[in-house]
Amino acid sequence: MLSKIHNLEDYAVAYRKSVNEPEKFWATVADSFVWRKKWDQVLDHDFEDYKVEWFKGGKLNITENCLDRHLLSRADKTAIHWVPNNPKEADRVLTYRQLHEEVCKTANMLKAQGVKKGDRVCLYMPMVPELAISVLACARIGAIHSVIFAGFSASALASRIEDAEAKVLLTANAAPRGAKIVPLKEIVNDALSQVSCIEKCIVLKRTDDPVEMKANRDVWWHDAMLTVSNECEAETMDSEDPLFILYTSGSTGKPKGVVHTTGGYMVYTAYTFQNVFQYEENDVYWCTADIGWITGHSYIVYGPLLAGATSVMFEGVPTYPDAGRFWRIVDRLKVNIFYTAPTAIRALMAQGLEYVELYKLDSLKVLGTVGEPINREAWEWYHQHIGKGHCPIVDTWWQTETGGIMISPIAGVLPTKPTYATLPLPGIQPVLLDADGNELEGKGVEGNLCVKYPWPSMLRTTWGDHERCKSTYFSTYKGYYFTGDGCRRDEDGYYRILGRVDDVMNVSGHRLGTAEIENAINMHDAVVESAVVGYPHPIKGQGIYSYVICDPEKLEVTTMEEIKQEISEMVIDKIGKIAKPEWIQIVRGLPKTRSGKIMRRILRKIAAGEFDNFGDTSTLLDPSIVESIKEGARREK
Ligand code: WTA
Repeated sequence: MLSKIHNLEDYAVAYRKSVNEPEKFWATVADSFVWRKKWDQVLDHDFEDYKVEWFKGGKLNITENCLDRHLLSRADKTAIHWVPNNPKEADRVLTYRQLHEEVCKTANMLKAQGVKKGDRVCLYMPMVPELAISVLACARIGAIHSVIFAGFSASALASRIEDAEAKVLLTANAAPRGAKIVPLKEIVNDALSQVSCIEKCIVLKRTDDPVEMKANRDVWWHDAMLTVSNECEAETMDSEDPLFILYTSGSTGKPKGVVHTTGGYMVYTAYTFQNVFQYEENDVYWCTADIGWITGHSYIVYGPLLAGATSVMFEGVPTYPDAGRFWRIVDRLKVNIFYTAPTAIRALMAQGLEYVELYKLDSLKVLGTVGEPINREAWEWYHQHIGKGHCPIVDTWWQTETGGIMISPIAGVLPTKPTYATLPLPGIQPVLLDADGNELEGKGVEGNLCVKYPWPSMLRTTWGDHERCKSTYFSTYKGYYFTGDGCRRDEDGYYRILGRVDDVMNVSGHRLGTAEIENAINMHDAVVESAVVGYPHPIKGQGIYSYVICDPEKLEVTTMEEIKQEISEMVIDKIGKIAKPEWIQIVRGLPKTRSGKIMRRILRKIAAGEFDNFGDTSTLLDPSIVESIKEGARREK
């Protein structure tokens, strides 16, 4: 078993060791896993010309660590307890033995469909057990999984499939979500008409909705599984072989495929899962994220299974059939550790306490949040009404790129403070830098959050474009990994994340780049130019506000309302509903400097309902533009 931190002193000792002797520290953690061959070198890295390798020369298969090694002592323990969207439908429970068998069968099915080690397999699926099973099935045979959140549109799906040159796509006919049914296969058919690399599309029959299947390409999942054996030897993988690609948004319009590898990712997700949540054998753990995001990868699939935990997997949404859904499930399954996003807490908070008071919630021991800064009101509400004042809240800061939790309280060990992610976990060396790249020493300082030493689950590259990885993360500040977040270190040395300092927004915990939304808006033929910014939103954290210049001739034949509607539809079509602008303002110009740069600062202020204190505007080419934008702006707070 992993060595666990039980008190403040353990934390101090572990942290010190992780900084003074990082290789020794991580080698000890890594020793508790099954390796087919031990590593030759713990760490090899270069932050200047980015390269990082952990447990070099080590050979393993992560699924042996998630599944096979538990068969001796936990074969009949529940690995995944799945709760469907519709409360009238039956749950599905998979023990470790059953999960192992399903993974082996699915791995054989993938092989039979032509998937080989190193091939990319895209997964565009509802939150059903088959999604977790196929993630592991890919890992079993050394195929690289690329899960694409099932809320993305056909063109977003197509561009991700194409970027990864995926050979096989796994999907379902439809995905029930709340009161709606998302026609996944229809979206897939549209996406696949735009790409040429997919040879096989395997379709799970999740509902009775009929779908169009294309001969020679599309196969029903249950047919593909008919003749496969339930034994599948795990492929031997190098510690640094890619495990998965996960696309995320950045400052440019093109989504980037963050690449994680095998050994380091395994060691770090398991270590953080067990320590942050203080997981104990027989705890029931529930993370409400979707496997389409990094939280689902690390803390629904890999982390909990590596620990041999019982995990709840939920297909539905927090407010269906009513706002008590989470709490009903917590009581029914006696959930001990509950991990969700601030946006969900705020949405449920807005529905009133009557949905909470119907439930006991007395099984809960630890609460967690992730994905965006949590405001004080939401933190207090979560603490008081869900945790009944006695469950520690772990406000976990991390990113797709970091693979695992970086700065967070260790439940019950580090004293918490509302809105603070508190202190770095062992192995993590955060620094705050000023605009000139100087490290800010001491307490009570604010700067750009960077990390100055490698940790095992950091991204290795961006798929197909290592230069992009170097320039995005390792060039802003030489010798540091730059997170893109602003951060404050207070008088206690505690870290508080202030939000992004780049052109990335965080809408309901979903990461979206302003440029990708602008690109989508600009595809509308009446649009001349656009600028998108985030503004504070009471439930979503940030809402999307877009300023759009339209061709005056087009405006003569179409009304503003019609154009706005079409622009919205364009964004939904190009990216997905999660990127729909909350607010669209048609403007006659954008506030540009003499050198042609948009002063986004001004647009952000106006979007937030602040109409003065714009700071230095002396470089503005045409100040009257700002006045006209103010006049047409959203006026409610
Ligand atoms: C933000 C999600 C404040 C942050 C795991 C980061 C947070 C981005 C927190 C990564 C937190 C995540 N407090 N902000 N506890 N957790 N963020 O890649 O801006 O989807 O850079 O990974 O979310 O989002 P991503």
